[in-house]
Amino acid sequence: MATRTPLIAGNWKLHKDCAESVAFAHELKSAIGADTDVDVMVAPTFTALYPVCEALKGSPIAVAAQDMFWESKGAWTGEISAEMIRSCGCTHVIIGHSERRQYFGETDETVNAKLKSALEAGLVPVVCIGETDEERKQGKTFEVLDTQVKMGLKGLSAEELASVVLAYEPVWAIGTGNTATPDMVQEVHAFLRKSVADSLQKELANAMRILYGGSVKSGNIAELMALEDVDGALVGGASLDTESFSGIVRYK
Ligand code: G3P
Repeated sequence: MATRTPLIAGNWKLHKDCAESVAFAHELKSAIGADTDVDVMVAPTFTALYPVCEALKGSPIAVAAQDMFWESKGAWTGEISAEMIRSCGCTHVIIGHSERRQYFGETDETVNAKLKSALEAGLVPVVCIGETDEERKQGKTFEVLDTQVKMGLKGLSAEELASVVLAYEPVWAIGTGNTATPDMVQEVHAFLRKSVADSLQKELANAMRILYGGSVKSGNIAELMALEDVDGALVGGASLDTESFSGIVRYK
């Protein structure tokens, strides 16, 4: 049985300008301290990546971008490559968040292209998947997730897959206060691990970290982390203040 170090990740979304992000990073650095039982990651906006990476030097908190482009350079006005993210000091990148899928045309194909480019640049990708409320009501949850996993992770070598983190974020649970029930979360996470095992490789599936995201807070994190196939959380709203995020990091 593989040991999976939990990852608690904060997605700041479109919140906090440069100065606010740096001040918050300093606060988190002292609140979380030098030793944690879990891996910790924060994802500021693009414009705050470099100063936040600088502010968090010497702390165990990793920094991620919230998205990236799949090409490394060229005439792509407005885009940011994996190498550029890496050059800011980031080690991680979020790919395929449902808000990118819903509002910015992200598809399983673009997720796959971004994922390959992220891995080439040496970034740890946190790949988001999740069903909408309508898809769940229509009984399509597992079909949707299976497609997102298989298409999103298509064509990766075993070595590349080893660093991929999956984040299950049911769209209906994001920012709504409606956390999925522990039974629902465990059922989906076990399904995802099996889907990775069947389509890719059993060993990798056992080692792969699968995070849950959707209205995670300090009051429900312990219950979620107690589930067999939950290896961490991707936190939105509750990652925006020091007390609640450090409370989630110290869920034990
Ligand atoms: O990526 C994190 C996320 O979408 C969940 O957001 O605010 O429900 O924790 P929230």
